[in-house]
Amino acid sequence: MAQIQLKNICKRWGSTTGVKDFSLDIADREFIVFLGPSGCGKTTTMRMIAGLEDPTEGEIYIGDTCVNGLEPKDRDIAMVFQSYGLYPNLTVYENIRFPLKIRKVAAETHDSRVRKAADMVELGPLLDRYPKELSGGQRQRVALARAIVREPNVFLMDEPLSNLDAKLRVSTRAQIKHLQHSLQTTTIYVTHDQIEAMTLADRVVVMSMGELQQLGTPTEIYDTPANTFVAGFIGSPAMNLLDGKIIDGKFVTEHTQIDQLPSGLPDAVTIGFRAEDIQVTIPTDQHDTANSEGHIFAPVYSVEMLGDSTLISIKVGQALLIAKAEKTFRAEIGQTVSFIVPPEARHWFSKENGARISV
Ligand SMILES: Nc1ncnc2c1ncn2[C@@H]1O[C@H](COP(=O)(O)OP(=O)(O)OP(=O)(O)O)[C@@H](O)[C@H]1O
Ligand SMILES: [Mg+2]
Repeated sequence: MAQIQLKNICKRWGSTTGVKDFSLDIADREFIVFLGPSGCGKTTTMRMIAGLEDPTEGEIYIGDTCVNGLEPKDRDIAMVFQSYGLYPNLTVYENIRFPLKIRKVAAETHDSRVRKAADMVELGPLLDRYPKELSGGQRQRVALARAIVREPNVFLMDEPLSNLDAKLRVSTRAQIKHLQHSLQTTTIYVTHDQIEAMTLADRVVVMSMGELQQLGTPTEIYDTPANTFVAGFIGSPAMNLLDGKIIDGKFVTEHTQIDQLPSGLPDAVTIGFRAEDIQVTIPTDQHDTANSEGHIFAPVYSVEMLGDSTLISIKVGQALLIAKAEKTFRAEIGQTVSFIVPPEARHWFSKENGARISV
């Protein structure tokens, strides 16, 4: 059993704070992804779980044991890093076997364990090669096999795919997902790639500036972002956000007016809507542009053909708003279009602190 509990973890170095008051319960066998921009504290949190850093405050439990002060080697955790950390003068076989040797695992079990781990990541035919004779993706799989071979209670993976090209990332990602499903080992996976987070995770932890912003399933995080940070970080493209004021019961900006508002909105709000939840049209006459509830009128800023859809963007004040239109939709740059934001597509946030307003 390896459930992991973080209780009010803080990490400071002098006046620098890496992680602030971070609490999290991870279930046994769960696949948790830490997601956030560079410098938000993902690696620091991971290193504290592994025992490579001591928390300044707070407690870490693995199973029922408080592991504060316990050496990394006594925590039964295997880590996979972004830089594979393979031994260049050892073959693939000996690299995978290495953790068994230093842990003094009974020698007669080594061969079958190494071959089983290698087979799981499809390295069977490459066991006699040296790391320099492998591609990046193959090296990455050696690092994975070396973690698997130990049969640890917990896997920690810190951006393990970041050195791979786009295509290999997708196939290795699928392999990691499959592996975790068959090994049933509690896994914490760090990434700043939100597609990786959404596809791999049972639950995602979104972090910013050392703080937990939201914890939820990929669907929860996508459908009900807790604040404007999460809304603006998750999704490709991310959620559109537009600041406005509530005046006489209407949401007003330069280019739009929305009057069917939920009750209880503060004076300064941000409306959010996803590119795929709105419609784009080309208004045909003057009458169309007058006073249409939930329409945003502006000239086209750019048109991007993605193959399966067309992205149309407009600029409203400082905000760049993006709509996902049919793949056959065409408009000219500079031509006026209308983004229609239906009531069910609208998310509301406080302008003051960014928090989601439940309506
Ligand atoms: N030893 C240290 N001393 C001082 N500050 C540190 C130290 N280690 C990390 N930090 C700071 O703590 C913050 C969090 O760093 P961390 O490495 O956890 O970020 P990260 O989320 O993993 O980012 P990335 O995606 O770039 O890897 C950063 O601002 C970093 O500069
Ligand atoms: Mg990092």
